[in-house]
Amino acid sequence: MRVCIVYSSCTGNTRKVAEAIGAATGLPCHSVRHAPDPADYDCLAVGFWVRKGQPDARAQRYMRRIYGKPVFYFGTLGAWPQSAHALRCAQAAEALLQENGNTVLDGFLCQGKVNPRVIAASQRKGTHPMTPARLARLQEAARHPDGEDLQAAGQSWRHCLEAAAAVFHQQGATYAQEKS
Ligand SMILES: Cc1cc2nc3c(=O)[nH]c(=O)nc-3n(C[C@H](O)[C@H](O)[C@H](O)COP(=O)(O)O)c2cc1C
Repeated sequence: MRVCIVYSSCTGNTRKVAEAIGAATGLPCHSVRHAPDPADYDCLAVGFWVRKGQPDARAQRYMRRIYGKPVFYFGTLGAWPQSAHALRCAQAAEALLQENGNTVLDGFLCQGKVNPRVIAASQRKGTHPMTPARLARLQEAARHPDGEDLQAAGQSWRHCLEAAAAVFHQQGATYAQEKS
């Protein structure tokens, strides 16, 4: 089974998760900027950072090129991973993948440090006032992805890959039987 891990990352958080899932399964990971053609693979993991409640634009462009494959997605965001906002981001990623008939194996989201310059700019513009709750969330995000996140991401992807491999080999065996 040909497997590919592709990620989009602006400040390195999502790259860390990609590298962790790659290490957990002995697979290389590719930046979306130099990503191989998804058509050449049987199963893919695609990583993104969340921008305005959606997978970032580069990741979206790559996701739209995947057709009819089993896909695992992963991502990092500033919000709490159990929040309604994170759930909507996950749903957006799933919907995008399902549009092209892909099977979403599972997904993994965790927090990632928000670029301090972006926080400072939003403070200057006054778009997101710094409430105590917001400060606490950003301080927590600054500690992620941490070792636990990376381990959980690797575990989740490993399980998906095992399940996808079982289906892939079963389909191959059925196909061989039908041909004989
Ligand atoms: C322009 C911009 C928009 C963002 N929008 C969101 C958002 O809508 N929701 C969220 O939870 N985090 C948002 N974030 C935070 C990033 O998703 C988060 O820091 C992520 O871990 C960055 O990943 P990276 O280091 O792989 O680029 C935004 C960050 C930037 C710079």
